[in-house]
Amino acid sequence: MLQFVLLAIWGLLASASPTPERRQANTLSAFIAQERPTALEGALANIGGLNSSWVEGASPGVVVASPSTVNPNYFFTWTRDSALTYMMIIDELIFGNRSLRTTIEDYTKAQAILQTVTNPSGSLWPAGDGLGEAKYYSNLTSFDGTWGRPQRDGPALRAIAFMNLAPVLIGLNETQEYKEIYWPLVLNDLKYVGQYWNQTGYDLWEEVHGSSFFTLSAQHRALVQGGFLAKELDEECLACEQASQVLCFLEHNFWNETGGYLTADVNVNNVNRSGINADPILAAITNFDINATCDASHTQPCNSRMLATHKVVVDSFRNLYPINKNASAPDAVLIGRYPEDTYFGGGAWPLCTLGAAELLYDAVAQINRTGTLSIDDDSLGFFRDIYPSANVSNYTGTVMEDILSAMTTYADGFVSAVQEYTPANGSLSEQFNRTNGESTSASKLTWSFASFVTMAQRKAGQYPHSWGAWTPSANTGLNSTQCNGTSHNSTGSYTAAVGAGAPNITTSCFSEVIFSVNATTAFGQNVFLLGNTTNLGNGINEPSKIILPLNPGNYSSRNPQWYVDIWLAAGVTAEYQYVLQQKNGTYTFEAGPTRHLTAAGCGSGRVVRVDEVARFPSS
Ligand SMILES: *[C@@H]1O[C@H](CO)[C@@H](O)[C@H](O)[C@H]1NC(C)=O
Ligand SMILES: *[C@@H]1O[C@H](CO)[C@@H](O)[C@H](O)[C@H]1NC(C)=O
Ligand SMILES: *[C@@H]1O[C@H](CO)[C@@H](O)[C@H](O)[C@H]1NC(C)=O
Ligand SMILES: *[C@@H]1O[C@H](CO)[C@@H](O)[C@H](O)[C@H]1NC(C)=O
Ligand SMILES: *[C@@H]1O[C@H](CO)[C@@H](O)[C@H](O)[C@H]1NC(C)=O
Ligand SMILES: *[C@@H]1O[C@H](CO)[C@@H](O)[C@H](O)[C@H]1NC(C)=O
Ligand SMILES: *[C@@H]1O[C@H](CO)[C@@H](O)[C@H](O)[C@H]1NC(C)=O
Ligand SMILES: *[C@@H]1O[C@H](CO)[C@@H](O)[C@H](O)[C@H]1NC(C)=O
Ligand SMILES: *[C@@H]1O[C@H](CO)[C@@H](O)[C@H](O)[C@H]1NC(C)=O
Ligand SMILES: *[C@@H]1O[C@H](CO)[C@@H](O)[C@H](O)[C@H]1NC(C)=O
Ligand SMILES: *[C@@H]1O[C@H](CO)[C@@H](O)[C@H](O)[C@H]1NC(C)=O
Ligand SMILES: *[C@@H]1O[C@H](CO)[C@@H](O)[C@H](O)[C@H]1NC(C)=O
Repeated sequence: MLQFVLLAIWGLLASASPTPERRQANTLSAFIAQERPTALEGALANIGGLNSSWVEGASPGVVVASPSTVNPNYFFTWTRDSALTYMMIIDELIFGNRSLRTTIEDYTKAQAILQTVTNPSGSLWPAGDGLGEAKYYSNLTSFDGTWGRPQRDGPALRAIAFMNLAPVLIGLNETQEYKEIYWPLVLNDLKYVGQYWNQTGYDLWEEVHGSSFFTLSAQHRALVQGGFLAKELDEECLACEQASQVLCFLEHNFWNETGGYLTADVNVNNVNRSGINADPILAAITNFDINATCDASHTQPCNSRMLATHKVVVDSFRNLYPINKNASAPDAVLIGRYPEDTYFGGGAWPLCTLGAAELLYDAVAQINRTGTLSIDDDSLGFFRDIYPSANVSNYTGTVMEDILSAMTTYADGFVSAVQEYTPANGSLSEQFNRTNGESTSASKLTWSFASFVTMAQRKAGQYPHSWGAWTPSANTGLNSTQCNGTSHNSTGSYTAAVGAGAPNITTSCFSEVIFSVNATTAFGQNVFLLGNTTNLGNGINEPSKIILPLNPGNYSSRNPQWYVDIWLAAGVTAEYQYVLQQKNGTYTFEAGPTRHLTAAGCGSGRVVRVDEVARFPSS
């Protein structure tokens, strides 16, 4: 209750004043110390489950993008945002926050179910194409409206999130559990990546149809990490063998030599965009591996071409946003998604600006670890901005340390820029208005909160486990002169991750059905469902066939509800009845005729729900 009251006050603060007070903290480290726990709590409050203060009705483990339901309506769950959020949460667990285990298990089950939800992109069986669906309702049902489909980064990111859990379970001697619960879930997503990486889709901003740097980077990482994990688990991942082709494509098609930056999308018809975009910055922080060297692929933060891209992207916003006051380097500024953006006024995005900081913290750590800073023609401009006497050279010792220190100061500047417009309550929206810095678009955006936490982890020297970016096999394809658009066809082998909580839809198509019945019961009595399909017990009026108990989880004297949420063969018409189990174990059948219900057709994504009143004879 106390918590509820505090949250209510928080809500008032958030909407009360037109010019919100800024977060009070003198120093950057004080601000981060204050905001990091707020951001973690904010992310958790947007997830269905125990702490879901802001998203009533969301299923456990479902990440709602934002509690905002109008202008814009973000009360949905995106596979991408969810995976990025859980990558952060899983790392928080690894860094010591054991209380997060339950919500990670909730996420696991929710994703196992979502993989099987037939949707407008397709289905799990037989070809896996349904995995490319971008967003769902927060009750784990399909969203059938018009949308940018498919989005092929989701399966890769989700696989990465669950693969990051492997070292934890293996460390606990739970390798067998990992193989049974997680690996089938991961393998579906890896199969999807291996099968579809060479086909176009919508980018992470859901606007451009083509091949996105962010998407391909995540796909490359997923396949490399999957290959290593398969070996460790003594499993097979044939799809993972596509990794070198993905890297080859990435390495040869995205560098714009004239502009000196990595472009966000290729294979597009969009002529009105420069390709300057925060997409590669977010790719680099997602693929960051502390053990990678800077000459590994240009998806790594300290790679020269990535640092060059950082400069071009940041510079494109310096004179564009009035709030940046034309500040020039080495001052940091607020950045958005891409300079041509007009969505909700095309303002600054906290998650992009914090990503710009995070990339620099990552790069500093990587360079420091190798002990040499190699500045080349590509990265010279970036380094001259923060250290004017920099040259094309290999720096070590104190000069390297001075340059890294300037880089860290520069990184801090991006966080300070976010601090300047963070409201007093610490809530982070999707955007800051480019003219006055007011929080705008979706409020309490989960991804904004998650981006704050990952930035703070890196600044504190907390790094995710290495995924093998530094190994030769992760870099196969880097120097190939010929790339091949091959793929691995897994059609027919996608399998519901039953061990993780998915319904078994291996060979046919199933639809979700919710039975809800009002039945006032006395202590010791239970309600069952019996019907003529396999999971309903395959019987009518036969006590020996009763197998399906209803759940009294919502039961109260005012609302004597018993319910069950199950899957029936798509399109099937089931005959059924409710049964009252007496305290002594005997059964009382409903009076009157049996009932009938027809499950939704294959591919409709529709859930059929019945709300009924039991007809038990009063004793
Ligand atoms: C799921 O949520 C959507 C959107 O709120 C709603 O239309 C639908 O009825 C819900 N489905 C179930 C089974 O509750
Ligand atoms: C790990 O688990 C296996 C069985 O799964 C068991 O035989 C073994 O003793 C366990 N090792 C430790 C260190 O707990
Ligand atoms: C490469 O960058 C230059 C300079 O910014 C730009 O004019 C050109 O359109 C870009 N080329 C592509 C293919 O995006
Ligand atoms: C941003 O602020 C300006 C100036 O107050 C206002 O005109 C504009 O409508 C705001 N944009 C959004 C998206 O709120
Ligand atoms: C670089 O590494 C050294 C030794 O590991 C460490 O003491 C120092 O703090 C690091 N510097 C930066 C800027 O990360
Ligand atoms: C820096 O070192 C690398 C690797 O030894 C070498 O290839 C490169 O030429 C050096 N750069 C300069 C400017 O000396
Ligand atoms: C980096 O590699 C070393 C071994 O070379 C390993 O001990 C260390 O744990 C790795 N770092 C991370 C964050 O995985
Ligand atoms: C790619 O080529 C560069 C420069 O020739 C070399 O340093 C690097 O080791 C090569 N990488 C791989 C994975 O072959
Ligand atoms: C693509 O195929 C050609 C011809 O078989 C081969 O030489 C080349 O190495 C392949 N490229 C990659 C990245 O595997
Ligand atoms: C498929 O891969 C080939 C070889 O890398 C590349 O030329 C082509 O653009 C790719 N197409 C898509 C849609 O990824
Ligand atoms: C993939 O395999 C399935 C099942 O074997 C087959 O029906 C389908 O045509 C194959 N698709 C491609 C693109 O080869
Ligand atoms: C899933 O269903 C198929 C076909 O009905 C069956 O063969 C298989 O054993 C089931 N798998 C599990 C894990 O229940």
